[in-house]
Amino acid sequence: MTTALVILVLLAVAGWVGWGFLSRRALLPCPAAFSFVVERDNPLAKFTRAAHVVERLAPKPGETIADIGCGPGRVTLPLARAVAPGGEILAIDVQPAMLAKLEAKAAREGVENIRRLATDLRQAKLEPNSLDGAVMVMALGEIPDNAAVLPALYAALKPGGRLVIAESTFDPHYVAIRRLRDMADAAGFSDRRCFGNLFGYSLLLEKPAATRSAELPEPGPGPAAA
Ligand SMILES: C[S@@+](CC[C@H](N)C(=O)[O-])C[C@H]1O[C@@H](n2cnc3c(N)ncnc32)[C@H](O)[C@@H]1O
Repeated sequence: MTTALVILVLLAVAGWVGWGFLSRRALLPCPAAFSFVVERDNPLAKFTRAAHVVERLAPKPGETIADIGCGPGRVTLPLARAVAPGGEILAIDVQPAMLAKLEAKAAREGVENIRRLATDLRQAKLEPNSLDGAVMVMALGEIPDNAAVLPALYAALKPGGRLVIAESTFDPHYVAIRRLRDMADAAGFSDRRCFGNLFGYSLLLEKPAATRSAELPEPGPGPAAA
């Protein structure tokens, strides 16, 4: 009995670690059938709680915010309420079944300002300089070969746009803060503030407003002097 239990625990640990490891190379997202795992806040993982993520991003009415790897909408719905009236959430997930759960929940709660996009983020053609902000909660590590993810989000954010990335150590796809900071630096983000403990962290990044002049076309020669 004890041996069987030990074997079971070892298999579970191996599966957990193996899933995280294999996800670096292949798309193996948390199946929609297990969405109940992320349907509610984990009371221990303070920094991935919906209220914390929303507070960190500080969305304002009228803003356009992307929720990347939104799952069944734990964070999406409070974000949608925070940008109303006039704002919109772009909810992106690779699994249409997750987006169907989000759609049903939004309909039940009368939330109408969510645009759903079923795509692998790596193939999403996000309009440059279109987002006021974005969040990515327990999703970055599920995206294989994710080096291009932060540069793509950087391009999609408006100058001064904010990005909150939150990770929990309860997730087999946990991305360590040091690795994330290297990726964020390489993409050009300013590192604003990090909150963290043993169970995870949230990092607020910003696309520097100064990039605006670098991205505008060179001024022409101007009118000739009379
Ligand atoms: C652990 S769930 C987190 C859901 C939600 N962010 C939350 O915190 O409640 C990760 C989500 O990321 C999505 N995902 C994984 N890889 C993705 C990719 N390449 N592009 C878009 N979404 C992806 C999965 O389908 C899943 O719904």
